[in-house]
Amino acid sequence: MQTEKWWQKAVVYQVYPKSFQDSNHDGIGDIRGIIQRLDYIKQLGVDVIWLNPIYKSPDIDGGYDISDYQDINPTFGSMADFDELLSKAHAMGLKIIMDLVVNHSSSQHDWFQKSLASSEPDNDYRDYYVWRDPVDGHEPNNWGSFFSGPAWTYDEKSGQYYLHLFAKEQPDLNWNNPKVRHSIFDMMNWWAAKGIDGFRMDVISLISKPDGLPDAPITGDSIFGNAGDAVANGPHVHEYLKEMNTKVLSKHDWMTVGETAGVTISEAQKYANKDGSELNMVFEFEHVGLDSNTNPALGKWSDRKAALPELRENLVKWQQALSGKAWNSLYWNNHDQPRVVSRFGNDSPKFRELSAKMLAALLHFMQGTPYIYQGEELGMTNAYFDTINQYQDLETINAYQELVVTEKLVTEETMLKYFQSKSRDNARTPMQWDTSSNAGFSDTTPWLETNPNYQAINAKAALDNPDSIFYFYQKLIKLRHQLPVITDGTFKLLPDNEQDDHIFAYTRTNSETTLLIIANFTSDTITRNYDVPKAAQLLIQNYTDDQETTIRPYEVKVYQYPTKSLKK
Ligand code: NOJ
Repeated sequence: MQTEKWWQKAVVYQVYPKSFQDSNHDGIGDIRGIIQRLDYIKQLGVDVIWLNPIYKSPDIDGGYDISDYQDINPTFGSMADFDELLSKAHAMGLKIIMDLVVNHSSSQHDWFQKSLASSEPDNDYRDYYVWRDPVDGHEPNNWGSFFSGPAWTYDEKSGQYYLHLFAKEQPDLNWNNPKVRHSIFDMMNWWAAKGIDGFRMDVISLISKPDGLPDAPITGDSIFGNAGDAVANGPHVHEYLKEMNTKVLSKHDWMTVGETAGVTISEAQKYANKDGSELNMVFEFEHVGLDSNTNPALGKWSDRKAALPELRENLVKWQQALSGKAWNSLYWNNHDQPRVVSRFGNDSPKFRELSAKMLAALLHFMQGTPYIYQGEELGMTNAYFDTINQYQDLETINAYQELVVTEKLVTEETMLKYFQSKSRDNARTPMQWDTSSNAGFSDTTPWLETNPNYQAINAKAALDNPDSIFYFYQKLIKLRHQLPVITDGTFKLLPDNEQDDHIFAYTRTNSETTLLIIANFTSDTITRNYDVPKAAQLLIQNYTDDQETTIRPYEVKVYQYPTKSLKK
């Protein structure tokens, strides 16, 4: 097994700058705020920080609409602030990877403004985006946008439509145009010269559109064809990433992770192949799609809970299928996903800490590179907003407009429940630092409401409590750095665990060491006998004692023993 790359042993901490720390009293997080909190990140013990977009942007979609790839959003600070952040992080031994958002730009980007200016053949920029004539007076095809409505917007001036898989302010770049690719690669090399440590690549699986842009199948009550299915892993995506690899990535000792909506196992084996010809690893979406609505028209909007057997089957599939061929990224949370303790754990006061630790250990002993999203290490919970007015996220607001107001597919009451489970704002509430006003995030009203539970759940309280979730994560990170088996060991589900509704139990084994991970996913007390070898020692656990065959609510325990003691 290949384990020599630095990013295979690394743990990543994701910072959503807008919600991390405000330093200039405007209720919005910023780069100087991140600088102030570097010690905290360092104390956790991670190796890499992934920064969500900090570039110049009208901020229609949390900065994923970039109007200048080589400038900083003034709300977040200046390029000098960024340079200082990078050099301070490096001095502390922390690497920084940036978000690369090049499936689309902002409609305010100079390229799009020039593209709009004329449809004449002498306009070099027209072909930077995807323009098509109307078909029978309508959109060129039936694709829907991920953010509701059609994926096409009409431009009166030229009489053509442009494609936007996301908001209309996020026009898709035309990767078939070599000039587009070169402009992007030049920009990436410009960041490389600054000394960044890699990129997380936004919806990179969507950059190559299918030839002819055919209609996509319509399922259930949907009005639009599913553009995601139509576009994911398109005909030239691997060719383009190989070109990017040759022209940019291969020149740097970087970490790269592709956000690959619609990725399958066989596609992941190409994107993240260990031959290094494309990216280092990908984010897959299957395990965070299990609790979607059974009605395709409602997509992710649901308050359904995924059952342990389906979640386990999925995670095990990815562990086994990429082993020795490609590399996994491991995540429960990010800025688009609800908080894991509310989603797969139990955020009641009784079980929040136990279940957050259980979920942490379950994930962090798998093979791959783990990602911790800000506040996950505190067991931050969903926001549980009661009204639509509390939400700021455009995906949420547009879904409300389309599904509740216009199409009346779902009642307001039900949709608000779905938002409590799934809205992206659940992850975006301000970081909870202490019990002072606005959780220590800002001394003025934050751009998004703070979760009132910050009085109990905050970094200060966690750092003062040796049994906190924070220190549990810190220990998991240390163990990954110390024990090669966590990086290189073979993953195996315990033979009788496949159908278990309560327990997830697996081993990691290399020639020296075996780890046995036993996690109770439920609030029930369960009896199981896993024949733990005599030589086994408890490496980490979330209760203070070990009752061997009795596995308590949300208990997780990890045993370590020499691999040879298996043959008893
Ligand atoms: C995925 C990002 O994670 C999400 O936040 C964003 O809205 C879309 N891509 C569009 O860029």
